[in-house]
Amino acid sequence: MIFTVAIDGPAAAGKGTISRAVAGRFGLRHLDTGLLYRAVGVKGGDPAQAARQLTPEDLDRDDLRTLEAGQAASRVAAIPEVRAALVDFQRRFARSEGGAVLDGRDIGTVICPEAEVKLYVTASAQVRAHRRWLEVGGDKARVLAEVQDRDARDMGRADAPLRAAAEAVVIDTSELGIDEAVAAACAVVAGRLAKGP
Ligand code: DC
Repeated sequence: MIFTVAIDGPAAAGKGTISRAVAGRFGLRHLDTGLLYRAVGVKGGDPAQAARQLTPEDLDRDDLRTLEAGQAASRVAAIPEVRAALVDFQRRFARSEGGAVLDGRDIGTVICPEAEVKLYVTASAQVRAHRRWLEVGGDKARVLAEVQDRDARDMGRADAPLRAAAEAVVIDTSELGIDEAVAAACAVVAGRLAKGP
């Protein structure tokens, strides 16, 4: 079965949790594509070369989840050569036998426009900053500024900017608990699977 679930949205909207839950529920493989950009961002040197030479070990580093890695990822993600170097791997993963969930910014719009399910998971910047702050602590105003900064860069770049695909189902998690958000996403996937892959 070839079956792709594309989950896009801004930082800290709940994409990761929803993606893992959907993958687990339906037995699909999962790729967090933000990790690719984070690994390129923290690697240093020429970002395009780092993207072309990315190894599985690069994705295993334990410093990929920091705010700094997120900012570095957002910066290198605006470089067209970096994005181009990562396309094939993501496309192959998306269309691999058995089905896949990919979460990121451009999965439904650029990486896999033919995805069987497209979700756009979002929440207000305040709610997302609050969630991120619960994880990382520190100065709350700085965390909000970081979220807004990344939104502006990810939505404003020329190459593959963050936006909902025309046919994406939007899930706003501002006022949803995680169980409700996961249930909403699973309902969309189950509905599409019922029609056959
Ligand atoms: O999802 P994340 O927070 O780990 O992503 C980190 C950065 O990587 C994000 O700010 C923008 C970039 N990114 C992207 O441009 N395209 C993707 N498909 C995934 C992430």
